[in-house]
Amino acid sequence: MSLTSSLTRRFLLHYAHEHLDFRLPELKSIVELLGTKIGIKNETNEQKNPFLIVDLPSEETAKKILSRTMLIRSAYELWSESKTFEELHQNLSNLPKDLTEPYTSENSTFKIVVEAFNKKIPPKQKIQRIEDLPWVEMGLKGKIKLKNPDHSFHLFEYYKFEQGMHSATEPNSIYFGRLVAEGQRDKIQHYKLQNRCFIGNTSMDAGLSFIMANMGHTTKNKLVFDPFVGTGSLLVACAHFDAYVMGADLDYLLLHGRARPSRHNQKERDSNESIRSNLIQYGRGHLYLDAMVADSSKHEMWHRKEIFDVIITDPPYGIREPAKKIASNNKRTNSNERFFKLPEKTQYRLTDIFKDLLNFAAKYLTINGRLVYWFPVCRSEYKEENIPVHPCLKLIANSEQPLSTRVGRRLITMEKIKAYEVDACDGSPLYSASIPLDHYADASFREKYFEMYMENGMLPTNDDIPATSLEST
Ligand SMILES: C[S@@+](CC[C@H](N)C(=O)[O-])C[C@H]1O[C@@H](n2cnc3c(N)ncnc32)[C@H](O)[C@@H]1O
Repeated sequence: MSLTSSLTRRFLLHYAHEHLDFRLPELKSIVELLGTKIGIKNETNEQKNPFLIVDLPSEETAKKILSRTMLIRSAYELWSESKTFEELHQNLSNLPKDLTEPYTSENSTFKIVVEAFNKKIPPKQKIQRIEDLPWVEMGLKGKIKLKNPDHSFHLFEYYKFEQGMHSATEPNSIYFGRLVAEGQRDKIQHYKLQNRCFIGNTSMDAGLSFIMANMGHTTKNKLVFDPFVGTGSLLVACAHFDAYVMGADLDYLLLHGRARPSRHNQKERDSNESIRSNLIQYGRGHLYLDAMVADSSKHEMWHRKEIFDVIITDPPYGIREPAKKIASNNKRTNSNERFFKLPEKTQYRLTDIFKDLLNFAAKYLTINGRLVYWFPVCRSEYKEENIPVHPCLKLIANSEQPLSTRVGRRLITMEKIKAYEVDACDGSPLYSASIPLDHYADASFREKYFEMYMENGMLPTNDDIPATSLEST
């Protein structure tokens, strides 16, 4: 992304230290969703650095971004960036009055916060840093108020880790800024799985669900579908952004709240456990359309095309939950037969799950609609060509969440760029999904997964199992 001339204001974004690979994709996705522009000034691979400097058209834009992001803690209007304290004082002494005056008047209250990263600074030293600031030159005339002041100024000292894991003696960067907005980190607590009415072994934690909703451009009145809906955690996040939500799952018992409970101290599920209850719990019941017991490998039941704005899902990896589909040799139940016969199920290979998912998205997404899904990988074997492709879908982002040193999963975001077309003669699709290099060609993810551990003469621990969230265990 390039800096354009219309961009005038510079901001400092302070990131939480998690899901590092998702930082830029989430930010870019929100910026696109808002239809605005951003200039990224210090894009770096340095993972320990929690700061990103960006140029945005206005403070309003920064506030809008912060009203969606799960990964940014807070945003500051950047007043100074320097390497030394001397330079910081010089910069702050020469700030243009029109930048500072609205926030420094006698009638206002303010506080100054000092924080250091990768280094502990004693409180005395922090106070000294504040006292050393050029108060007069900055025109700081307001009253100091530590609780709920009108304005909050922040001095950040960032120390790089050096070899041997010792932090540097001198800061790598010193930032000074005015707090503009806080992000949505409080939602992680508000929506946490422990307090949720209905959860399962693979319920997705709130933070990742919200990141997925952001990647999917989920907004008010959009229609969202999760074809492997489970307990509906992804729908909860999408409904938070006021989208209408629906899903499908093959597991009848789970969808009817009768599967084995996942909470270790619970013997039976409560009678009200359902996806609907989850949505009602957060005041989003009116946005819940339904969840069907259905096999997502079968697409024929959908008659209208291009109905979903977002398809968002975490398919079964076959480790914590079975990946099954209805066997294609099932004969239709004879209407004369007196007893209802459950159809036979067969293994649903991950390769087929992903191809089916992309074919489904190509057909049922609206143009510019987004598909967001997880792709599990053995990290040492993973190659970019393992990601499935479809001529109607453009890859937007591919970010890794390591689950252990050996396994991980990648969050894939695709956008529908081309209408789905069929052959005029026989009605077969003109384009279909393919996988340039099949990650699971020689063995299923389950086999690969257990093989890796056996080779190393060890058994996987609970933490290694690609569940969704440790919150749910
Ligand atoms: C990883 S879980 C999804 C968890 C979900 N995101 C949640 O928050 O609870 C995968 C789900 O896919 C379902 N599933 C497996 N095979 C399926 C199929 N052929 N069609 C639809 N759902 C299927 C499983 O029953 C399971 O609930």
